[in-house]
Amino acid sequence: MANVSEVSPRLTMKVALITGGAQAIGETMARLFVAHGAKIMIADVQDDLGQTVCKDIGLDKASFVHCDVTIESDVENAINMTLAKYGKLDIMVNNAAIIDDGKSNILDNDQSTFERVMSVNVTGVFLGTKHAARAMIPACSGSIIMMGSVSGNIGGIVSHAYSSSKHAIVGLTKNIAAELGQYGIRVNCLSPHFIPSPMATSYINDHPDKFSKVYSNLKGVMLSMDDVAQAALFLASDEAKYMSGHNLVLDGGFTVVSPAFGLFARASTID
Ligand SMILES: NC(=O)c1ccc[n+]([C@@H]2O[C@H](COP(=O)([O-])OP(=O)(O)OC[C@H]3O[C@@H](n4cnc5c(N)ncnc54)[C@H](O)[C@@H]3O)[C@@H](O)[C@H]2O)c1
Repeated sequence: MANVSEVSPRLTMKVALITGGAQAIGETMARLFVAHGAKIMIADVQDDLGQTVCKDIGLDKASFVHCDVTIESDVENAINMTLAKYGKLDIMVNNAAIIDDGKSNILDNDQSTFERVMSVNVTGVFLGTKHAARAMIPACSGSIIMMGSVSGNIGGIVSHAYSSSKHAIVGLTKNIAAELGQYGIRVNCLSPHFIPSPMATSYINDHPDKFSKVYSNLKGVMLSMDDVAQAALFLASDEAKYMSGHNLVLDGGFTVVSPAFGLFARASTID
């Protein structure tokens, strides 16, 4: 990553709210956004962790609010706190999500687990977007970013619940982009491949055989949290001013190449 002091900051004077920003991908985004001049609000259920991250970033640039994205009053409060603290909301990142333990037989999947995943990963994103729109519509500008996944583009990667939720996010992105374009608000989805975050490693620990088969079409390249944060930075910034309703897939060609057909040699497998 280039030293930020050597390049022009791309989010000067912008205010961003990042759900699930207390760790991993959301935290990496928060740090990068601040390095590019933004003020950020982290909204998460992990209060101690979120507050520690904000202190480390600097309390003049980062604030924490407790927020369970499945509870509308929490989401409403997180947006209101952002407006009270910073006066506006330019960027909303709907990043918080959970994954279930991925049972390979549908008969072993239970309704309550399915509904819990859908509640955080879809209803939480809907609520975040609804209340971000409340703040952005009067300003006639804004960038809303949904965190999707490669498992929202093709099947057979993870659990039914998680895959369903990430497919739903792509649809939600398009539908909300269709509505909010009239207010100059852009809505995009970012769909990364596997990254060894706490979420992914807990899943992979349960399925070590699957991780050894993680496929990339790009030889010698591993996806990092910083890569995802850089893509989010682009979608958040004015450089993406004509992008809306888009699903930006960050997967090294994984979802566009069928290794099963094998016309070309397979480039790499993570071991
Ligand atoms: N790690 C991967 O391989 C990967 C791949 C593709 C997409 N993603 C997506 O990226 C995003 C971030 O994933 P991650 O790997 O950093 O996960 P993570 O589990 O490490 O972090 C998720 C964060 O969301 C918070 N969170 C969970 N439930 C919440 C709730 N109800 N309300 C508020 N906050 C809540 C957690 O406390 C945590 O801080 C998710 O949307 C995930 O689906 C991850």
